[in-house]
Amino acid sequence: MAQQTDSAGSGSEAFGQRFGVAFVGSGSAKLETVLTNEQLAKVVDTSDEWIATRTGIRQRHIANPGDSIRSLGGEAAANAIAQANLTPTDVDLIILATSTPDDLFGSACQIQHEIGASRAIAFDITAACSGFVFALVTASQFIRTGAYKTVVVVGADLLSRLTDWSDRRTCVLFGDGAGAIVLQRSESSDNLLSFEMHSDGTLNDCLNASYQHESTPLTENVTVQKGSFNPVTMNGREVYRFAVNRVPEVLEKSLFHANLTVDDIDWLILHQANQRILDAVAKRLKISSDRVVSNMAEHGNTDAASIPIALDEWVRSGKIKTGDVLALSGFGAGLSWGAAILKWGK
Ligand code: COA
Repeated sequence: MAQQTDSAGSGSEAFGQRFGVAFVGSGSAKLETVLTNEQLAKVVDTSDEWIATRTGIRQRHIANPGDSIRSLGGEAAANAIAQANLTPTDVDLIILATSTPDDLFGSACQIQHEIGASRAIAFDITAACSGFVFALVTASQFIRTGAYKTVVVVGADLLSRLTDWSDRRTCVLFGDGAGAIVLQRSESSDNLLSFEMHSDGTLNDCLNASYQHESTPLTENVTVQKGSFNPVTMNGREVYRFAVNRVPEVLEKSLFHANLTVDDIDWLILHQANQRILDAVAKRLKISSDRVVSNMAEHGNTDAASIPIALDEWVRSGKIKTGDVLALSGFGAGLSWGAAILKWGK
């Protein structure tokens, strides 16, 4: 049953809240290897013109063979911790949003080890392209209740691992990357102004990377499943329709809960899936394109990493400043979608 109720996702109630959340640092990993549209056109029957016109993507970064969620997620986390003027041992909790872990039991602990955050507990969240927003909201709950003071949220995905490089309908969309932010307890204000999250499993078939098993008899009465994960399959038109309807809606609800209007948003940071989706959402919200963050042309769709990479690029270039109101929205497989309205900085 689809869960579309208002109450499930709203973050406006201060029930049980003891502390506020501040967003104090961002970081991302640098991936050197680039795969351009022209290069892809030598692999599948496509063209730079087709990809750029339909998606806005010109190139994507691909992890080198030695790279991993551990190394790239760790690099992003370390950069975010440094920007926040903290050290890894200050971190109480690491939440990793990923759909492509190095270890199916979770890669957050590997990142904890990689960066030397020896005090932190660490776990993974899987919610595909909504993963970063869902992880940010989850992290905020631990801070608001007083459980933890300093939390790093990492969004890292190597979608090249799950891509069918012979399927032109999907392989042109995706790239690899990692980004992170640091959240801290604030006694003076709560800069997570609102959030809203939704899931609709009835639409799971539209976008997934499902486990394909073969039943293998083990004993006379026990049959086990052996298999592997399929590459990403997607109904592009359905996903497009879903995104352009649900994303403006979830943002409008979040703004309402925060008692804000579109005019209060300094930067709209959507999951970087497709420039046409960004344009359609901006048009529906009546927000001018100069306030819409887009790095799609350079990165493609990096799944849970796309929002924190975009955020970090805008922070480091000085466009996002302390006190700016950011409206984030992630959407994708599940299907799932969500938004968070926050004020950047302490
Ligand atoms: N290069 C050239 N032609 C391509 C192509 C490619 N990379 N991919 C598909 N085509 C062709 C199709 O084969 C089809 O040809 P046909 O009419 O001869 O059968 C034609 O282009 C139209 O295909 P269609 O899938 O209907 O295209 P579209 O207009 O829906 O655009 C997407 C495809 C993927 C760009 C679009 O559906 C989309 O952006 N969807 C959202 C995807 C997304 O963001 N997913 C991630 C969400 S987290």
